[in-house]
Amino acid sequence: MANKIRFGFVGTGRISDWVLKGAFLDPRFSLEAICSRSKERAEAFAAKYGVKKTFTDVEEMASDPDVDAVYIGTPNATHKDIAIKAMNKGKAVLCEKPMASNAAEVREMIAAAKANDVLLMEAMISTLNPNFKEAVRYMDEISPVRHWSSSFCQYSARYEKLLGGEVTSVFDPAMAGGAIMDIGIYTIYPMVRLFGKPDSLCASLRTLPVPDGSLIDVSGSIQFSYPGMHASVIYSKTDDSFLPTEIAGEKGNILLDQIHITRKAEYIPHSAPTSGRGLPPERQDITCSMDGDEYQCEFREFIDLLTYSKKESAVNSLQTSLTVMEIIDEARRQNGITFPSDKI
Ligand SMILES: NC(=O)c1ccc[n+]([C@@H]2O[C@H](COP(=O)([O-])OP(=O)(O)OC[C@H]3O[C@@H](n4cnc5c(N)ncnc54)[C@H](OP(=O)(O)O)[C@@H]3O)[C@@H](O)[C@H]2O)c1
Repeated sequence: MANKIRFGFVGTGRISDWVLKGAFLDPRFSLEAICSRSKERAEAFAAKYGVKKTFTDVEEMASDPDVDAVYIGTPNATHKDIAIKAMNKGKAVLCEKPMASNAAEVREMIAAAKANDVLLMEAMISTLNPNFKEAVRYMDEISPVRHWSSSFCQYSARYEKLLGGEVTSVFDPAMAGGAIMDIGIYTIYPMVRLFGKPDSLCASLRTLPVPDGSLIDVSGSIQFSYPGMHASVIYSKTDDSFLPTEIAGEKGNILLDQIHITRKAEYIPHSAPTSGRGLPPERQDITCSMDGDEYQCEFREFIDLLTYSKKESAVNSLQTSLTVMEIIDEARRQNGITFPSDKI
């Protein structure tokens, strides 16, 4: 492998642009090739970044010996096929969240990663964020944990389009869209990273019909039961929320200002048992200095793993990706949401 990790990017949408800003901050990153469904779009995107190689076929790009790794920035329902094609050509894969349409597809992807002995990682930035990692170091201080409470609600322009009858990929069942897949996942993934698989869950999702008659969720709330603790999450693409994420333990609390990208983290040690008239608790700011860009952390993790010939991240593990998808499958099942990709 060359000194730099040479990436081939699939998809020329806004997420590819977004993550590249962070990727280029890692001196070990190099952009080698662009793959798009359209030759013109591939060439236009490549020209913007001074990249010479363009492709319209993922397998051709993944067969190129100068490509070490493939980043997938395409709609959810396309992840599995693209990832497996790349892995079958021996390439490491960094795949946008959610890893796939459903748990069955994630299992196929994990099997392909193992069969080809290649690295596969979900591009979930929340758990790799420096402030989240710092906060995790305080878990022992607050344990035993009794509650995880997380919120990610952001009014979306694409919700307005949906109301106007235009179904973009983020709300398209054929693309395995919906709010839980798009932003609900940010409240669930870090919870699974910290506490594993819940014993049970009860999901209440608000759904709207799309023109083909199927349902898609636009917001939701989910309650989870764990041994000795509860968890609750809310997410929405129809309204904003500024609620922080809180990890509450018997010996203290951790507050994260935003779960998708934590910019401020606080630790609040539980001082003394009170009956309601104690002094307000002292908040300790445990925020660290952020990277130059919020997406840098996922490339740092992925390139570190490749550099040390690791096939899996200990943070964004394959089991975490699978458990998260199983949870989302169950939340959809409880609310009558199915995707064409569920009917294999
Ligand atoms: N990590 C984050 O912060 C973040 C933020 C937003 C989105 N995402 C994730 O990024 C992925 C893409 O989301 P998006 O909103 O950017 O999607 P999008 O705009 O609908 O599509 C992104 C790109 O994928 C390609 N594409 C579109 N439809 C396709 C299809 N049917 N088959 C193959 N390629 C297709 C297109 O590139 P070409 O025309 O060049 O083929 C398009 O520009 C999703 O998995 C989403 O969850 C992550």
